[in-house]
Amino acid sequence: MMTTASTAVPTAARGLAGVVVADTAVSDVRGAEGFYQYRDRSAIELAETVSFEDAWQLLVTGEPATDASRPPFRRRLQHAAEGRRSDIDAVVDAVARVTPEVLPGLAAAWPLLGARLALRPLYDLDDEQRLDDAITLAAATPALVGALWRCARGERPLPLLTDRGVVACYLHQVTGIVPDDDTERALTAYLIAVMDHGFNASTFTARVIASTGADAASCLAGALGALTGPLHGGAPSRALDGLDAVGTADRVEPWIREELAAGRRLMGFGHAVYRTADPRAELLKRVALRRGGARVQLALRFEETAERLLAEAKPGRDLHANVEFWAALVMEQCGLPRSMFTPTFAIARTIGWTAHILEQARDPKIIRPSARYVGPSVRTVAA
Ligand code: ACO
Repeated sequence: MMTTASTAVPTAARGLAGVVVADTAVSDVRGAEGFYQYRDRSAIELAETVSFEDAWQLLVTGEPATDASRPPFRRRLQHAAEGRRSDIDAVVDAVARVTPEVLPGLAAAWPLLGARLALRPLYDLDDEQRLDDAITLAAATPALVGALWRCARGERPLPLLTDRGVVACYLHQVTGIVPDDDTERALTAYLIAVMDHGFNASTFTARVIASTGADAASCLAGALGALTGPLHGGAPSRALDGLDAVGTADRVEPWIREELAAGRRLMGFGHAVYRTADPRAELLKRVALRRGGARVQLALRFEETAERLLAEAKPGRDLHANVEFWAALVMEQCGLPRSMFTPTFAIARTIGWTAHILEQARDPKIIRPSARYVGPSVRTVAA
């Protein structure tokens, strides 16, 4: 924090980089160490070992799933999604008439679902009612995304797989194939790994809206807007576009040199907080290598070359592949189309957003910073 001489008002760093703006017990990112945690657990360990639903329960309730607490939480998720089926269908039908695009469709669908379910401002609710709204919206999200995808292609949503969890049902909805266990586990690892990540741009957006006391659906719609940007959650499909543009291994180095010389950013590289390898990228790289395929070899070459050339171009900055680079490979291996990468990311991040919205709603202080005015001085109206 600096102070300006003229006003003695504290001034935050550009982009609020490194500025602590709140306390949170949801997640922590330690950029220098390449480590992050959800509540009191290593997020990577969770991604490698637990189910999507158990990680969800931990993040949103703050308590790990146990033999006693797991069944009622699962019933709650099931009721929230299936009990709202006709509302979800009505919203999807309305949205699909306006756009075949899933991402803006989801951004519109949440407030419409919120209005249909008469969700009230967080300000007017107690903790238990807020948790209900958070679970209702997050549980409806895979169904909304899957149905928007099918409707955009002129198809009806497929019936749910009654004996499988959220991840398998979602994969089935989008690909039309009942996933095998390895594919389900690969996507589960990705989804858990990106459920939350400190005060990133979309989470901060959700918390700013929550601090006004608005309803939970409005918080999610705002957060999703921030996520769609290419510098945040919009990067993974562009990372694959990069691999497509390169084509063959011998073109990797000249292509990256041209991009950097033209002042363009390499999508899927660099991070605002990590000053060492992104642990999510390392996890997903392990998953992608295990599953294999021709594109993985090209991706390895691309990663090694990009890191070397970025070190030349930005010495001392230590730029590595980020989560989006290897996530793109894993999502492609799981059969998800490129246009569904960011919507799939949103399904996972909705859980982190709701955990943060609940935490923020307990603090009655509105988030309202200031800006330094650098425009012209006041002139009289007649001048
Ligand atoms: N390609 C080329 N140059 C880069 C890249 C990149 N991928 N990332 C950072 N740089 C450059 C910056 O332009 C900056 O150069 P400058 O000092 O000449 O201005 C320098 O490296 C240092 O940048 P940082 O301060 O480390 O980056 P910042 O915190 O501003 O941005 C960001 C982080 C947005 C992720 C950036 O690295 C980027 O644009 N990456 C590409 C997009 C991307 O992959 N986004 C997904 C991020 S992960 C997520 O949000 C889930």
